[in-house]
Amino acid sequence: MPEKFGVYIPEDLRREIERYMKTLGFRSKSRLIQEALRLFIVEHKWQVSGEVAGVIGVVYNHDVGDVDKELTDVQHKYIDEIISTVHVHLDKERCMLTIIVRGSTERIRELIRQIEGLRGILTLRSMLLSAK
Ligand code: NI
Repeated sequence: MPEKFGVYIPEDLRREIERYMKTLGFRSKSRLIQEALRLFIVEHKWQVSGEVAGVIGVVYNHDVGDVDKELTDVQHKYIDEIISTVHVHLDKERCMLTIIVRGSTERIRELIRQIEGLRGILTLRSMLLSAK
């Protein structure tokens, strides 16, 4: 059974959504919300799945403490989950690591938490999908 419900949307979000609807050719707000909810599920499905695969992107400042060594140490702890890593030197101080992973949700979550906890990390973004 489909369900109908009211949604509260603040003014600024409403304006932005209407602008996107016009540009993207969405006629109905219901369709837009359905698509947003489906994306939400894809985005979060890995969190409730037993096994995930994907990419963790990290930008960090290599001048801060021992961040380079610490990042290497963390990666060696997750040797079974890390498939490959690409290091890109962005500028004089900043480096970007792209870590390709596959493993249990629990282990990948731990890995992300450990990287996030290191001093010198500027940004961490992950794109993980359910591997089951
Ligand atoms: Ni570098």
